[in-house]
Amino acid sequence: MLAGKRVLLIVTGGIAAFKMPELIRRLRERGAAVRCILTKGGAQFVTPLTLQALSEDKVYSELFSLTDESEMGHIRLSREADLVVVAPATADVLARMAAGIADDLATTTLLATDKQVVVAPAMNVQMWAHAATRANMALLESRGIRRVGPNAGDLACGEVGAGRMAEPMEILGAIEAFFAEAADSSFSDRPLAGLKALVTSGPTYEAIDPVRYIANRSSGKQGHAIAAALARLGAATTLVSGPTRLADPAGVSVVSIESARDMLAACQAALPVDVAVCAAAVADWRVKAAAGAKIKKAGGKPPSLELAENPDILATLSAAGNARPRLVVGFAAETDDVVANAVEKRKRKGCDWIVANDVSPNTGTFGGDRNTVHIVAADGVENWPPLSKDDVAMRLARRIGKHLAALRQ
Ligand SMILES: Cc1cc2nc3c(=O)[nH]c(=O)nc-3n(C[C@H](O)[C@H](O)[C@H](O)COP(=O)(O)O)c2cc1C
Repeated sequence: MLAGKRVLLIVTGGIAAFKMPELIRRLRERGAAVRCILTKGGAQFVTPLTLQALSEDKVYSELFSLTDESEMGHIRLSREADLVVVAPATADVLARMAAGIADDLATTTLLATDKQVVVAPAMNVQMWAHAATRANMALLESRGIRRVGPNAGDLACGEVGAGRMAEPMEILGAIEAFFAEAADSSFSDRPLAGLKALVTSGPTYEAIDPVRYIANRSSGKQGHAIAAALARLGAATTLVSGPTRLADPAGVSVVSIESARDMLAACQAALPVDVAVCAAAVADWRVKAAAGAKIKKAGGKPPSLELAENPDILATLSAAGNARPRLVVGFAAETDDVVANAVEKRKRKGCDWIVANDVSPNTGTFGGDRNTVHIVAADGVENWPPLSKDDVAMRLARRIGKHLAALRQ
């Protein structure tokens, strides 16, 4: 899929720049041509010689270089690429891109390009959480720039949290996804264009105290894949996700939450939508009175936790009156009597369809890449064969497209 594709890789000044040789190797292995622009900051973390040796091409850094401008100016650099990838993307380069600043070769090329740009942000957790960075990123995404990551985890600065660059293989996945979409002729038919979709994904975390929480084994893979598929078919898609290890899907607006109550609030804020797909594994219960300080092991009897029921997001969206999505799809994770339980759940929740999946430990559904689902609707049950979660997502998105089109007629 990548053979013969030309990737312009812009490496800016974050510690994660040291991972770019790995990305270049993986791209080259797959037959892609890689040309690098290295900022002054980037050159503090990876040498031009390393990038040059692995990309087997000259590395560009200077905006005002007579030789380069005559041989390969910034306009040509941007035009002679099929895709522009900024990795790592510093807070600084995101800010300059958002503001339209063109004060070095990297930003001038980014302003001049007519190609899709993918950014892989990488920075300290506070820099990523800063209102300026959030606003810059949101603006860039609203202009069509795609984002991969960042992930949560240990950061090079010693802190822990969101800001860690997506791994080279994840960035490669985003690059492959872009070229797959471009090659997919069915991509030109975007049956969900003009429609709005809301998807929930992942587990919720319910605090016991500031350091402990109750959670579940949901990986978010199915929900994230559904959001990506709906966006790919043209829907303006909001993904409300609990904590996962997954990169944000391309072209999707992501709202990250922790608790069930936060998830409900984020869903309500996203209304009105045409379709809501509730794939998150929302905790049924939370701790009634989460402690404000860490509960100490005082010896003797362990503390007992009193639970309170969480709001039912699927039932709430299904009964949202005028704001009810035209199609509400719930998920049922069952370990026995999968279909019978789902039929009953559909009626109880008031939703239109239930996607029932068997999450017994031997199925590997939780955290795995495959899923066997049954679509339970008012007029019957469809049993789908075992499929990858991506294929389940695309098939479901197409089914949603057909259903909404029929409702419009
Ligand atoms: C040791 C060190 C590590 C840094 N790591 C990052 C980083 O991971 N992400 C980031 O946004 N900025 C980081 N910075 C700050 C950027 O290098 C700085 O904002 C620089 O101006 C970025 O230039 P550029 O965006 O043109 O490459 C780091 C700075 C230093 C000194």
